[in-house]
Amino acid sequence: MVHQACIACGEKYDADEIVYLCKRCGDLLEVKYDYDVIKAKLEKSDWQTMTLSVWRYKDFMPIRDPSKIVSLNEGGTGLYSCQRLVNLLGVGQLYVKNEGENPTGSFKDRGMTLGITKAVELNMKTVICASTGNTSASLAAYAARAGLQCIVLIPSGKIAYGKLAQAMVYGAKVVQIRGSFDQALKMVLDLSEKHREVYLLNSINPYRLEGQKSLAYEICDQLNREAPDRVVLPVGNAGNISALWKGFTEFHKLGLIDKLPKMTGIQAEGAAPIARAIKNGSNEITPIKQPETIATAIRIGAPVSWKKALRAIRESKGTAETVTDEEILEAQKMLARSEGLFVEPASASSIAGLKKLFESGKIDKDEVIVCVATGHGLKDPDIAIKTSEKPFEVDAEMESIEKLLGLSKPIPATVVSR
Ligand code: F0G
Repeated sequence: MVHQACIACGEKYDADEIVYLCKRCGDLLEVKYDYDVIKAKLEKSDWQTMTLSVWRYKDFMPIRDPSKIVSLNEGGTGLYSCQRLVNLLGVGQLYVKNEGENPTGSFKDRGMTLGITKAVELNMKTVICASTGNTSASLAAYAARAGLQCIVLIPSGKIAYGKLAQAMVYGAKVVQIRGSFDQALKMVLDLSEKHREVYLLNSINPYRLEGQKSLAYEICDQLNREAPDRVVLPVGNAGNISALWKGFTEFHKLGLIDKLPKMTGIQAEGAAPIARAIKNGSNEITPIKQPETIATAIRIGAPVSWKKALRAIRESKGTAETVTDEEILEAQKMLARSEGLFVEPASASSIAGLKKLFESGKIDKDEVIVCVATGHGLKDPDIAIKTSEKPFEVDAEMESIEKLLGLSKPIPATVVSR
């Protein structure tokens, strides 16, 4: 039977109970399954012949009625083999999973298709989240698709414009609070516990992570049913690293892969409580009051899923690293220019972290590595414009353009070789 359970004390809750934190000890919840039931379902299912997408994995998901699924065709994103980047970095084998290809341009859509489907199953009419941008964009889109009211709380003046535009145009009630993401998250949690008619869809809601675990399944399927040696990804509120680890361990439990990857979390130097705890060998995190980084998506000082993330990193024998804003911006350009993949700064931190870990000898040359590029570069166009060479401006005359391009002496047609 599918149910929810506390990750600390094991207290069980019905799959349909609206509960965000354990009522006994206050810790996080997770969705639990009977894997023999899933195995039996898989034997009768045609899932292996379906196209790659979140819902190819519906037998692994806590959904009662597939006809109620709220979808915008999420998942099925490209896993790119990046040889040019390999040559630049010196690493063994590298793939980038480009989550910017999702309907609203980030991995959040994997969680929201499931979260909103659950909201519909539970007959909720209003959904809410706190967000550094992408969660709000995604929630607003899926709420619109399902005809639900959507409220989003964002830290004022600190989110990328592309994301704000999305939440606004999808018709969410956008509330900017004069405070941090961490404060906004505390407020939406308190609000949805007080007003039970408002359904919270931050990653504290374990159903979100059930959708996001499909990212791990897809990586294995794209690598011909094998896990990579290592997965490197940005960590903010720490839901995604927890979701991926759940996905990999489930595929392993079901006998679909025979090894597990080392989970490697990257945080920006000014917002790195999890990376610090890993480096210090600590079992607790020390929240950061005023997190700072250019990668606004991961400007988070008190990650709600820190315990799940520490567990994922330690159980998988992975690691964590911090990167500076400069390293993030350099990696963003390197990925765009060597592979044609334009990702937002938070996403580029995975490449920056990989570079740093490899150069310091913490990643071996023979590893097969997957970096997760979590969101599209156009989410935050201001940064890209600020950090790139400015366009040239010339008069609209052939001569001026030729001069600029150094093409002033025409080559006779006869000597042009192919
Ligand atoms: N990358 C991007 C592009 C993100 O938007 C986020 C989180 C992360 C990485 C980190 O993922 O929180 O699961 O560890 N963005 C959230 C938001 C916080 O509100 O959009 P995480």
